[in-house]
Amino acid sequence: CPGLACEVFGRKEYIYYQEIDSTNSQARTLASKGYPEGTLVVADMQTTGRGRRGRSWYSPRNQGIYMSLILRPVLPMKEISRISLLVAVAVAETLEEELDLPARIKWPNDILVNNKKIAGILSEVVSDMDGIEYIVVGIGLNINNQLQDFPSDLRTPATSVRVEDQRLVSRVKVLQGLLVRLERRYFDLLAGSFEGTLEKGKSLSLAIGQELKLDTINGVIIGQAVDIDDYGFLLLRDQSGIIHTIMSGEITILS
Ligand code: BTN
Repeated sequence: CPGLACEVFGRKEYIYYQEIDSTNSQARTLASKGYPEGTLVVADMQTTGRGRRGRSWYSPRNQGIYMSLILRPVLPMKEISRISLLVAVAVAETLEEELDLPARIKWPNDILVNNKKIAGILSEVVSDMDGIEYIVVGIGLNINNQLQDFPSDLRTPATSVRVEDQRLVSRVKVLQGLLVRLERRYFDLLAGSFEGTLEKGKSLSLAIGQELKLDTINGVIIGQAVDIDDYGFLLLRDQSGIIHTIMSGEITILS
């Protein structure tokens, strides 16, 4: 049972599928039926794994970790991005600490090793008039994929633990390491302690100090990433010196 080392995550409700369309879609269905915080949905493969911006997530059988977690945080809407950052930190530190890989965060949701994407995060927030109803945090992590298995038309070059390190590792062990870190940082956040995660997030972030292009729903900004603020937002100084606070978007590092 993946949640064995946890108090809540994957411990009370753990749902495993050999095959599913998308663990995020399934977790959303379960969340809408009232499944509790910490419900973990895991699959060995996804037929229509979903990425950000309507993209798909390549999810071949037994090669990656495909998981989704239901969260029901009691937090003001503004603090939601903190959850994004903490998930990225937990994934990156799992790769560093459990597998000795130099993982870095490409704000806000990509995890890279040697500039290639090894993991992606898709957080879906469902809110009503009273605030956040639930969040489904979906994580896809490439573990035992071989380079030739990846589709050739990916936006960012992909990698896996096996490609980087020429070894096969236990997906369950990595998943357990990830859940423990997610749980610890999540309950720290709910208890009002985010400082440690923020500092770790900044130190693992590739963007800070770099020139980059940011695509948002409102258009493109070119500038320098100066910092990540206390809410997990990216501070971007554009060419005229104005600092923009960015909640979400997609960055391309230029320098
Ligand atoms: C991205 O980088 O675009 C995000 C990818 C997120 C993929 C994971 S795999 C498990 C979960 N279920 C999905 O359908 N998507 C997420």
